[in-house]
Amino acid sequence: MPAVESKYQPHDMEFRRLGPSGLKVSVFSLGGWLTYGGTQKGNTVTECMQAAWDHGINFFDTAETYSAGQCEIEMGQAFKELAWPRDEYVLSTKIFFGTGRKEPNTRGLSKKHIVEGLKSSLARLQQPYVDIVFAHRHDPDVPMREIVEGFTQCIRDLNLAYYWGTSEWSTAQIQEATEIAEKYNLIAPIAEQPQYNAFHRERFEVEYKPLYDQFKYGTTIWSPLASGVLTGKYDNGIPEDSRFATNPAFFKDTVEKLKSEEGKAKLEKVRKLKGIAEKLGANTAQLALAWAAKNPNVSTVILGASKVEQVHDNCKALKLLPKLTPEIMAEIEDVLQNKPKA
Ligand SMILES: NC(=O)c1ccc[n+]([C@@H]2O[C@H](COP(=O)([O-])OP(=O)(O)OC[C@H]3O[C@@H](n4cnc5c(N)ncnc54)[C@H](OP(=O)(O)O)[C@@H]3O)[C@@H](O)[C@H]2O)c1
Repeated sequence: MPAVESKYQPHDMEFRRLGPSGLKVSVFSLGGWLTYGGTQKGNTVTECMQAAWDHGINFFDTAETYSAGQCEIEMGQAFKELAWPRDEYVLSTKIFFGTGRKEPNTRGLSKKHIVEGLKSSLARLQQPYVDIVFAHRHDPDVPMREIVEGFTQCIRDLNLAYYWGTSEWSTAQIQEATEIAEKYNLIAPIAEQPQYNAFHRERFEVEYKPLYDQFKYGTTIWSPLASGVLTGKYDNGIPEDSRFATNPAFFKDTVEKLKSEEGKAKLEKVRKLKGIAEKLGANTAQLALAWAAKNPNVSTVILGASKVEQVHDNCKALKLLPKLTPEIMAEIEDVLQNKPKA
């Protein structure tokens, strides 16, 4: 068998272990919610993924529900075209919401949907396995033991994944899943996929703290730019080709809230963050991304990008990380005025 020809250069990327596992993920990663298979298809998807790879990103995230399965199809096609060696990248998908079908067993976390949903995801992705499969939400209709058994079966018996994780589960639910795994010799989850950004801090910084202390639980964080608000692009209204314009129904409430006093105060904070970013030779998006990555409990910050230029722009946050001294972090905290109480 010929030796595998490497297609990957880490450059100056930082890698973090994903929770208690030995898996190493780049501190910035790339996901396809609303973009790949949604507003973007074909070459743009491949080019964004290639650009991320060229910056040393090795971790890519999708979900069965993104654009009703189209995200997995587009990203799967891109992986095929890019032909990177499978052992050089890390891929995750998420199971829970289904792809929009109405039959009750084509969503949720029954053992049936965990296994069949993941098999369908893999077919769309044209992949034999994912590295991590996340439970996209908790399912109160399924006994926790069945959920843990379902993911264990995918990993241990079916080789459909190496690890599993949770997304937007409560601390108590993650603790319960881990205890059940220990008690019945099943596999415990290794990481959460929570929202975390300068405007959304409480759960990540306070509620999850016991998980970091108890299990070294990993985190793959989403919406680090609050869907773009933290780039400053919404400071003067809604640009035509922006997420809030291209997904009007989904973001109707968010757009309304931006017009409230609270929303205006948020945008004012973004303008002030711009001043700090410029002082450091960066832009607001890069500052917000580096701020998130600075938290040692973050394993990876999942970037979203509708354009190749955004990937290049956002990856510059890596260079900003060492410039976020305690003094700069205090300056940012002064602007935000929202540090959750421990
Ligand atoms: N587990 C979950 O429940 C969950 C939920 C949501 C997301 N996720 C994951 O997390 C990933 C990232 O979330 P997200 O997409 O919401 O992240 P985000 O960083 O908050 O938002 C990304 C969007 O902001 C805009 N943007 C990004 N960089 C920009 C730049 N430099 N200049 C101007 N605009 C820029 C782009 O949208 P436009 O150009 O269209 O305006 C882009 O698609 C997703 O792809 C997905 O993998 C998980």
